[in-house]
Amino acid sequence: MNVTIFGLGYVGLVNMVCLAKLGHHITGVDIKKFKVDAINAGEAPIYEPEITDLLNKGLETGNIRATNNPVEALKNCDVVLVCVGTPSKPDGEVNLGYTINTTLDICKAIKGTNKKINLVYRSTIPPNTVEKLLVPEIKNHLGANYTTQISVSFLPEFLREGTAVSDFFNGARTVIGNNDGENDKAIELFSFSGSNVVETNLVTAEFVKYVDNGFHALKVAFANEIYSLGASFGIDTPKANEIFLMDNVLNISKYYLKPGLPFGGSCLPKDLRAIYSLSDKQEIEVPLLRAVTESNNYQQEKLTKKVLSFKKNKVSLFGLSFKNDTDDVRESPLMKLSTDLIEQGIELKIYDPHININQLRQDFPTIVKYIISDLDNLFETELLLIAKKGIEERVLRIEHLEILNLMTDFQGFKNNSDLEINQLY
Ligand SMILES: NC(=O)c1ccc[n+]([C@@H]2O[C@H](COP(=O)([O-])OP(=O)(O)OC[C@H]3O[C@@H](n4cnc5c(N)ncnc54)[C@H](O)[C@@H]3O)[C@@H](O)[C@H]2O)c1
Repeated sequence: MNVTIFGLGYVGLVNMVCLAKLGHHITGVDIKKFKVDAINAGEAPIYEPEITDLLNKGLETGNIRATNNPVEALKNCDVVLVCVGTPSKPDGEVNLGYTINTTLDICKAIKGTNKKINLVYRSTIPPNTVEKLLVPEIKNHLGANYTTQISVSFLPEFLREGTAVSDFFNGARTVIGNNDGENDKAIELFSFSGSNVVETNLVTAEFVKYVDNGFHALKVAFANEIYSLGASFGIDTPKANEIFLMDNVLNISKYYLKPGLPFGGSCLPKDLRAIYSLSDKQEIEVPLLRAVTESNNYQQEKLTKKVLSFKKNKVSLFGLSFKNDTDDVRESPLMKLSTDLIEQGIELKIYDPHININQLRQDFPTIVKYIISDLDNLFETELLLIAKKGIEERVLRIEHLEILNLMTDFQGFKNNSDLEINQLY
């Protein structure tokens, strides 16, 4: 396939040499002449393992060439990759200037021709950039039926500097976002052995890159904080980390990594408080770990606001314990939600199949007054909050009742019924 790549920095150059290795003909474009000259001379303008070798092989086979001229570069191409920089502006906003300029260069080069290209953005850009900013730019230049010339996709780049070539060929997945389904060539280009292509829409593809990098940064900051605290006790931190990493069920896993209710229960809030107290005594700063409780409190407030936004006077809650299959209500986010709703004067009914009302009476006398024992009575309400599994069958028989599913990971209702069920996020 003939591929043109705009921007020959880390991402552009890696894509260039790797796609050339796969047998494609790559023309690279950069506004910096020294990069173009260096590439044509077989000298990689960046250091990255394997890259000089692959560049020279590409030049030898005639699969690689670089130019400053976008018009010339676009003459014979099927797919165009945009890999230009998207640095931060002083206020943190993403500078999309290079992306826009490249888009304009491409439009100018193909305007008035009968060229049809798959335009694939690889630069990291905020959600909706392609649809709300770049596509309108294209439309402005090529006219309303621009789709006869350009089909637009977004392919987030996940490679890491230092292992970029290996990451290109062995990434966990290749995400392709596209809204019009006309991205066959882009899919074909990236469907090489082991690439594991995942198709989604544009905005999701744009967003997942930030999910990845936000999480990576979080992991580094977490490890630095928690092991600084450990080291202050003279703990062998590499050993402690090794033991932590051995748990593939709860630690290095999908577990806990899902949006839903704020955390609660008898352990996480309490043990976080212990960490703060220990860090004070040891004089170790743990700003990230402190922010975890702040973030959770914020989610708790958001939960109450979400329920109040339905503007219903009668609300029923299925589930009170802090998670499924337990009767433990200690620091349950649903206890706090219930208290907030009661304070707002809402007529609240609570049903939890696991709760022992007599046990609860002693510790939480106020809440007990709102707990009902007849499940049918729960449906005599205006808004039903579902916070626990076990009510699916009964929900299917409900008519005309607004429902808010607080278990965002649980889609069981959606598949089974015509009921419209609001989701927490
Ligand atoms: N570096 C990484 O490890 C990495 C990993 C994943 C994603 N990304 C993202 O990929 C994008 C590119 O990153 P990078 O590190 O390769 O950037 P870079 O700064 O190394 O390279 C960008 C290149 O684009 C060129 N350029 C600018 N405007 C141009 C134009 N109009 N036409 C042609 N070339 C033009 C620049 O001269 C430069 O050589 C960014 O959005 C970045 O966030 C980077």
